[in-house]
Amino acid sequence: MQNKITKLFNVKYPIIQAGMIWVSGYKLASAVSNAGGLGLIGAGSMYPDVLRAHIQKCKKATDKPFGVNIPLFYPDLKEIFQIIVEEGVKIVFTSAGNPKLYTSFLKENGITVVHVVSSVKFALKAQEAGVDAIVAEGFEAGGHNGKEETTTFTLIPMVKEKITIPLIAAGGIATGRGMLAAMVLGADGVQIGSRFVASKESSAHSNFKKLVVETEDGGTDLTLKELIPVRLIKNNFYDQVQNLYKKDPSIDQLKELLGRARAKKGMFEGNLEEGELEIGQVSGLIHQIKLAAQIVEEIIAEFMKVKKEVNIIEF
Ligand SMILES: Cc1cc2nc3c(=O)[nH]c(=O)nc-3n(C[C@H](O)[C@H](O)[C@H](O)COP(=O)(O)O)c2cc1C
Repeated sequence: MQNKITKLFNVKYPIIQAGMIWVSGYKLASAVSNAGGLGLIGAGSMYPDVLRAHIQKCKKATDKPFGVNIPLFYPDLKEIFQIIVEEGVKIVFTSAGNPKLYTSFLKENGITVVHVVSSVKFALKAQEAGVDAIVAEGFEAGGHNGKEETTTFTLIPMVKEKITIPLIAAGGIATGRGMLAAMVLGADGVQIGSRFVASKESSAHSNFKKLVVETEDGGTDLTLKELIPVRLIKNNFYDQVQNLYKKDPSIDQLKELLGRARAKKGMFEGNLEEGELEIGQVSGLIHQIKLAAQIVEEIIAEFMKVKKEVNIIEF
């Protein structure tokens, strides 16, 4: 399998394991890269020195390409980008911010840059900023998301119509069937988050991984749209947010309830009652915690099988 995405990243399969706060450290990223996908270290929950240590360990754990995801609302951005250059990271996925800020700096340093968007408008802005590829992320996705609620099924063909650079689909993809569907819609590759949360190598707490496996359709919601919209499992913390909404809260009241370190409490420390538990709608399709390599192999095997079957769909 060779296409624009495998060539851009020099990987075997056009499968990107999403950068995820509290979930994707070097263990998961290197496991996915060793399995033929592209693993991403999620810098969003790491202090600069922690990120540097993860990059160094990842280089030891794999000789395959890997990258780093950097949400652009991160406070120590200058220091983070300095580390990226010093450590010789070759691929960076930026998200949640203006791609004009750092793209040229990264490109000047020989780094392949991908930016994550949730609308056609921002896809065009990212292309204009000079990125090498775009991740278009639909409303189904776990974690932070766009306010517009555009689904992957509609977003991918709309973005495809407007951009000329390679396109990666994200949001609601956990299987080979889903990957094939995204590529039929116009994507050149897929970015997968939730499915890799429930992997053995993810640094998510085991309580959270188990809950992901148990969460069925309807078990998540996109909320806190006045802050940064985020898709969460409906737990006790989510109920507290919904109760506060009934009182027509101010932004400050919402911020106060969210407080600090909610995501760490839930996803990393395993407090399923009080923590923020970020996961996508596709959790209803995740039934087992598996090795990252098994997940990659299963997705590719199903992709190949269904690709052949597509020719015999009756109509
Ligand atoms: C637990 C979790 C944490 C995430 N953290 C980040 C992050 O730090 N940066 C980012 O760009 N996206 C983040 N995301 C979004 C993913 O990168 C990815 O685009 C999304 O999970 C794809 O949808 P899916 O969950 O349906 O596979 C996160 C998603 C999850 C589930």
